[in-house]
Amino acid sequence: MINKKLILSISIVAIITTGCDDKQTASNTTPSNKSTVDKVANSVTTNIESVAKKVEQISQDVQESTEPTVNDIAKKVKEVQKTVSETTTEDIKEKITEASASVVKVVKDTIATPNATVLYKKCAGCHGAKGEKVALGKSQIIKGWDSVKITDALKGYKAGTYGGAMKGLMKSQVSSMSDKEIETLSTLISTF
Ligand code: HEC
Repeated sequence: MINKKLILSISIVAIITTGCDDKQTASNTTPSNKSTVDKVANSVTTNIESVAKKVEQISQDVQESTEPTVNDIAKKVKEVQKTVSETTTEDIKEKITEASASVVKVVKDTIATPNATVLYKKCAGCHGAKGEKVALGKSQIIKGWDSVKITDALKGYKAGTYGGAMKGLMKSQVSSMSDKEIETLSTLISTF
């Protein structure tokens, strides 16, 4: 798995570097335009830096993610860079703000997406890393179960309609989970 923080750091450096390129273009233009261009370049740099800060803050909250999501973010950051380099100085500020917002959105969505691997961590202690154990000497072995069977059991524990002698224990495991989290987690367990 690619280290997400590493990718984000590289991306941030890339965004800031793009900002520097814009400055260079600015200094190559005619003297009469120079101060306006410098102003725009400065505000662009400030914008880029504030986005970079936002992305960095959010990335600190992200513990782990799946590779496709990381690639998604990397792709969005590339799009931002492309937009920046293709835009003229007049509307560059607006474009940067738009593009930045889309990067921040992707990062936020990443955080909002339930991550099955992270969710399963708290289950592994009793059920085993691959669902191969008889949890606390009582449960059935869930390795090999299909996702529907697992989803039904977990939703059943949550609703109090499924389980044996130790169903109270399982209820406390799943009560704070959303249906979407239960489904994502069940899909992962069914691959064990
Ligand atoms: C503290 C130990 C413990 C933890 C942590 C735990 N379980 Fe369980 N699990 C059990 C026990 C004990 C049972 C059997 C409960 C009963 O009597 O129905 C069980 C039952 C199950 C069952 C149904 C199997 C059966 O016997 O019918 C599934 C599916 C399951 N757990 C999934 C999970 C998932 C997913 C997590 C993590 C969110 C999790 N468990 C966390 C102990 C645990």
